[in-house]
Amino acid sequence: MKNVTRINKAVFPVAGLGTRFLPATKAQPKEMLPVVDKPLIQYAVEEAYGAGIRHMIFVTGRNKRAIEDHFDTAYELEHELEANGKMELLRLVRSLAPEDMFCSFVRQPRALGLGHAVLCAEPLVNDEPFAVLLADDLMCGASDGPSVLGQMVEQFSRTRTCILAVQEVPHDHVKRYGIVAGEKVGERLTRVTQMVEKPSPDQAPSRMGVAGRYILTPAVFDMIRNNPRGTGGEIQLTDGIARLMATEGVHAFEYHGRRYDCGSKQGFLEATVDFALKHPEVAADFRNYLRSVQL
Ligand code: UTP
Repeated sequence: MKNVTRINKAVFPVAGLGTRFLPATKAQPKEMLPVVDKPLIQYAVEEAYGAGIRHMIFVTGRNKRAIEDHFDTAYELEHELEANGKMELLRLVRSLAPEDMFCSFVRQPRALGLGHAVLCAEPLVNDEPFAVLLADDLMCGASDGPSVLGQMVEQFSRTRTCILAVQEVPHDHVKRYGIVAGEKVGERLTRVTQMVEKPSPDQAPSRMGVAGRYILTPAVFDMIRNNPRGTGGEIQLTDGIARLMATEGVHAFEYHGRRYDCGSKQGFLEATVDFALKHPEVAADFRNYLRSVQL
């Protein structure tokens, strides 16, 4: 692994089928679904940018053109806004792609699983540690504190191992997550010794569920490549990371903040309500509206 002290690259696997959100995701990526006025993918890119990352790598699939367009220059739109003197909106549109941010796109030809999607990014990541962000997990750092990825980058600078964002999940939800267990080595840090993808509640080694933020070392690519297909016939990222436990070591980090599972309808609705209640433009009226709802 190249001896870099900071994380420069982030991988966004956005090639999944989003079946839980059909029909909304039939012709558009679920990562473009907006929470209030911003698509999920933009929240994730802003989180990575805020954590100091400047090279964004999107692993895309069919129907994902909208994501490329979203982070590209929109000449006609910008021209119209400028001509009509809508300078505030022009600034907003231009802020999506700051000049020092670089975007790359690589295709995952078939949705063979998250591990496979990450492997597709290998030629762009090369031999350095990198972040992985699943945009359908919308993460909020603790108020006024660093973002979840920002907290993880800080942890990585000390451990220099893979870091997984984890949170305690309800007993009957463990089958939806990668579950980890291990030895506590810090207030919020655990050296991982066991890792299972979507276990049944009676076989889960703990209730520590992996959320959609990872910092990975490039050694994970070989581990994914040499792994047989895992749970559900997919090439699992969890299985690849699990094989690093015995070599480089893997840490789980209990982040400060909250996760919204926007890949599910319930999580998406919770995020919409909470973000609307904080949005400067709509918060006051929306709060009044909620007060008027008969429940
Ligand atoms: P999910 O399993 O949550 O997403 O994958 P999905 O398959 O799109 O959604 P459902 O379950 O059918 O509703 C987690 C993340 O991994 C990406 C997805 O885009 C999502 O961000 N992914 C998953 C890929 O990029 N490629 C894959 O082959 C699978």
